[in-house]
Amino acid sequence: MKRTTYVIGLAILLAVVFTSTVLAGGWAVITLDELPGDVEANQPLEIGFMIRQHGATPLSGQSPVVRAHLVDSTKSVSVVASEKGEKGHYAATLTLPQSGKWEWAIEAFGAAQPMPALTVVAAPAPVTESEAVTSNSIPLSLLVGGVGLLGVLGSLLAFQRKVRWAAAFLVIGLLVSGVGFVSAAAQPRVEAAPEVKAVPVVSADSQVEQGRDLFIAKGCMLCHSHAETNSIREYGVDIGPNLTNLTFGPEYLRLWLKDPSSVKPATQMPTLGLSDEEIESLIMFINDK
Ligand code: HEC
Repeated sequence: MKRTTYVIGLAILLAVVFTSTVLAGGWAVITLDELPGDVEANQPLEIGFMIRQHGATPLSGQSPVVRAHLVDSTKSVSVVASEKGEKGHYAATLTLPQSGKWEWAIEAFGAAQPMPALTVVAAPAPVTESEAVTSNSIPLSLLVGGVGLLGVLGSLLAFQRKVRWAAAFLVIGLLVSGVGFVSAAAQPRVEAAPEVKAVPVVSADSQVEQGRDLFIAKGCMLCHSHAETNSIREYGVDIGPNLTNLTFGPEYLRLWLKDPSSVKPATQMPTLGLSDEEIESLIMFINDK
C-alpha cells in the first residue's frame, strides 16, 4: 500500500516537472546564419545560428548540440555550440572527417531541428613543403652563386692591385644582391596556383533548390507547412499559412521577407535578417508550383 502511494506520488511529481518544463520551454525556431557552401572533409566548418523562443525572442543561456551523421554509416560527430555575438546567437565549429552525404540537426530546447544535408568532398592535397621551397630556391641559389663569383673575381683583382676593377665588381655585386633581396622579399614565398573560380551559373532549378534549403535552415518550415519540407521536420507549430499552394508577387515577397512587420505591424512572423540573395532564392522556391 505504502509502496503504491509512493509510486503514484513519484508519477505525479514527474508529470508536473515534465509539463512545467515544456510549458516554460515552449518552442523555438533556429535560424542558420547562412547555408554552408562547399564543405571539405577534415576542414573546420564554422556554424552560426540564432535561437528565437516562439520564433520571436532571442534566447540566451542554451547549450545547443550540433549533431551530424554520415548517411549509411555509423559515423557521427557532435559538438556543443556556445553563445557568441548578439543575444541568442550561437556558434560551433564542426569538422566532418569523411567525404559523403552528411545529415545534421541542431538540438536545443529538447527538440532537434534538422538542417539541409551537406555534401562533403575530399580535401585537395595540400602543397608540400618541398614543392614550396623548390619554386623559389633555384633563382635564389643562382643569385647567391653569381654574387659569390663576383666576390671571388673582385678579391682576385684586388690581390693583383687592380683597385678600380675590384671596386667596380664590388659595386656590381652589391647592386645585384640588393635587387635580388628586394625582389625575393616582394615575391610571395609560395606561388599559389591561380584560383579556378567557376563562373556561378545559377540555374532556376538550383535556385529553387537553394530556396528549399533556406526554407529548412532559416526555420520557415516550423511555422509553415509545406509539402516539400514537411517530411524533414520533426515538429511544426504551423502558426503561419500553409505555403504549399500559395504564390505571391515577387515585389511583395521582397518587402515581406525583408521585414514582415513593415507590411503588417502586428504580425507574428519575425524579421530573420535574410540577405537579398537569400530572399531571391526563397521567392523562387515559394512561387515554384
Ligand atoms: C515564428 C513563425 C514564423 C516563421 C519562422 C516564419 N514565418 Fe512566415 N508567417 C508567419 C505568420 C504567423 C504569418 C501570417 C502573417 C500575418 O498574416 O500576420 C506568416 C506569413 C508568411 C507569408 C505570407 C505573407 C502574406 O502576406 O500572406 C509568407 C510568404 C511567409 N510567411 C514566408 C516565410 C518564409 C520564407 C520564412 C522563412 C524565411 C518564414 N515565413 C518564417 C510565421 C512565421
